[in-house]
Amino acid sequence: MIQELIHKLAQSHSLSLEEYERLITERDEESARLLKRLAVQERVRIYGHDVYVRGLIEISNICKNDCYYCGIRCSNTNCERYRLTPEQIISCADEGYDLGFRTFVLQGGEDSYFTDEILGRIIREIKQNHSDCAITLSLGERTRESYAYLREAGADRYLLRHETADKTHYSQLHPSSMSFENRMKCLQILRELGYQVGAGFMVGSPFQTSKTLAEDLKFIETFKPEMCGIGPFIPHKDTPFRDCGSGTLELTCYLLSVIRLIYPPVLLPATTALGTIHPTGRELGILSGANVVMPNLSPVNVRKKYELYDNKICTGEESAQCRGCLERRMNSIGYKIVTSRGDIIK
Ligand code: SAM
Ligand code: FES
Repeated sequence: MIQELIHKLAQSHSLSLEEYERLITERDEESARLLKRLAVQERVRIYGHDVYVRGLIEISNICKNDCYYCGIRCSNTNCERYRLTPEQIISCADEGYDLGFRTFVLQGGEDSYFTDEILGRIIREIKQNHSDCAITLSLGERTRESYAYLREAGADRYLLRHETADKTHYSQLHPSSMSFENRMKCLQILRELGYQVGAGFMVGSPFQTSKTLAEDLKFIETFKPEMCGIGPFIPHKDTPFRDCGSGTLELTCYLLSVIRLIYPPVLLPATTALGTIHPTGRELGILSGANVVMPNLSPVNVRKKYELYDNKICTGEESAQCRGCLERRMNSIGYKIVTSRGDIIK
């Protein structure tokens, strides 16, 4: 019985690979309701009805990689490239601080302009201006030396989705120049260096199966990332996966609940991608056990260019509008955005 599996997960926070697979293949409306109820119970026990916000600054859409799913992949010649200057990045953070953000996520493609020295200077300056803030980086794979340097400069957290815990699936999503082993090694190094680490994956990515998803869940169970970014895969018109279908709201919300039960303290965002496939996707994500939202703080004139997938939302709004919009959305479902660094409560 799947209900028994759900109760077992809620109690022991662990299932076998086969059990995780069954949790996915045998799900129905009734089991989804039970799962959601238990996940929200855990979420409320640890975080109450607080929603943590992260100000997302998309620093560059220049990337040396060619991930098959990604709209800013290097072989997309239709993508208009941009890179923010250090001054622009610092002023986005200043603006965000005034809007109540205490965490900034610097995200971008793997752009060699952003050397350790340049990033270090940006991190130090943001920290100097706002000592009560956390800085999260999401800049892909770098060397141990680089991660160590950036940590030393003041970076607190690093988001690096593992994308899939199945090696064959990984090779179906990425060209052979990218390696599953290195992705996993980077996550390990980040952990060793004392970062709060974020892993994660897309739901409904091409070639994903209940078996690969079970491997993702087992990986989350063993690695216990402080953050776990999951959102639906959405095709981008200029990628090899242009004709593939999107991941669904239903399965994304179901997996958000599963992940909350696997590792109850995890920081779990209701992603922009979830808000893109459904008008109230982010609210439904929170109601499934998520506890983080990431409004956009990038300058409005570059937002459309950071198009990882088609029809991405929030590309026309000013930062203050985006912040206000999410605040209203969270209030409408009985949750509230809080002004704090929003560290994990272990
Ligand atoms: N370059 C950094 C990295 O590799 O981690 C950060 C930027 S990357 C664009 C951020 C995340 O966007 C990826 O980890 C991936 O899961 C997600 N993403 C990329 N293309 C997507 C798509 N078509 N649909 C949904 N999510 C996507
Ligand atoms: Fe950006 Fe709603 S969150 S406009």
